[in-house]
Amino acid sequence: MIGVDFARADPAEVSRLVYGLVIPRPIAWISSISRDGTGNIAPHSFFNAVSCHPPIVMFASTHRAEDSGRPSKDTLNNVLATQEFVVNLVSRDLVDAMMATARDLPAQDDEFEVAGLRKEACLRVGAPRIAQSRAALECRLIKAERMGDATVVYGDVVYAHLDPSIMRDGAIAPDLVDPVARLGGSLYATLGEVFSRRRE
Ligand SMILES: Cc1cc2nc3c(=O)[nH]c(=O)nc-3n(C[C@H](O)[C@H](O)[C@H](O)COP(=O)(O)O)c2cc1C
Repeated sequence: MIGVDFARADPAEVSRLVYGLVIPRPIAWISSISRDGTGNIAPHSFFNAVSCHPPIVMFASTHRAEDSGRPSKDTLNNVLATQEFVVNLVSRDLVDAMMATARDLPAQDDEFEVAGLRKEACLRVGAPRIAQSRAALECRLIKAERMGDATVVYGDVVYAHLDPSIMRDGAIAPDLVDPVARLGGSLYATLGEVFSRRRE
């Protein structure tokens, strides 16, 4: 085995290992709104479910260097200001649109307009969801805490939108969801073989 002592490793190498080994990562395509009503969208692959009852999800917003002038990202600023966000699903057909929302744009640019995505009003939160996305989770902020070089955001899922096109026989069908996952570097993946195992 190749051993890596994280206390001595070069920071860029540590990043490569974290991004390369914690795979595949689901992608939360987060839509939010600023206090003045500007729509924002950004993909976050440091994302997962935390609890089912109540349903809680988390994502981590990595901070830029303190001297960058904009250390925290628009998504985090909006979530802290409005206490709300929406997790939209990224399917294979939406990857190019997702990439258009991963650019470091000024806070006043509406990323729905930049990426050619339509806003659809949510029912329980003020932030819009992405109309083209086939599933969306409306979330209310529970808490945000600084951890390492990121702020971890926990949200209560208060409402879900599901396009019937991702359902088969009354259940969510993974192949119809066609989710995109993030790997290391610029690599992405779709679902490979889907198989079933029952616990004894
Ligand atoms: C697939 C993908 C996943 C990403 N995951 C994260 C993440 O988990 N956390 C993060 O802070 N940035 C992540 N980024 C980078 C942000 O999307 C990027 O910094 C974006 O410009 C932030 O936008 P905002 O300032 O509008 O929030 C990711 C980018 C891509 C393309």
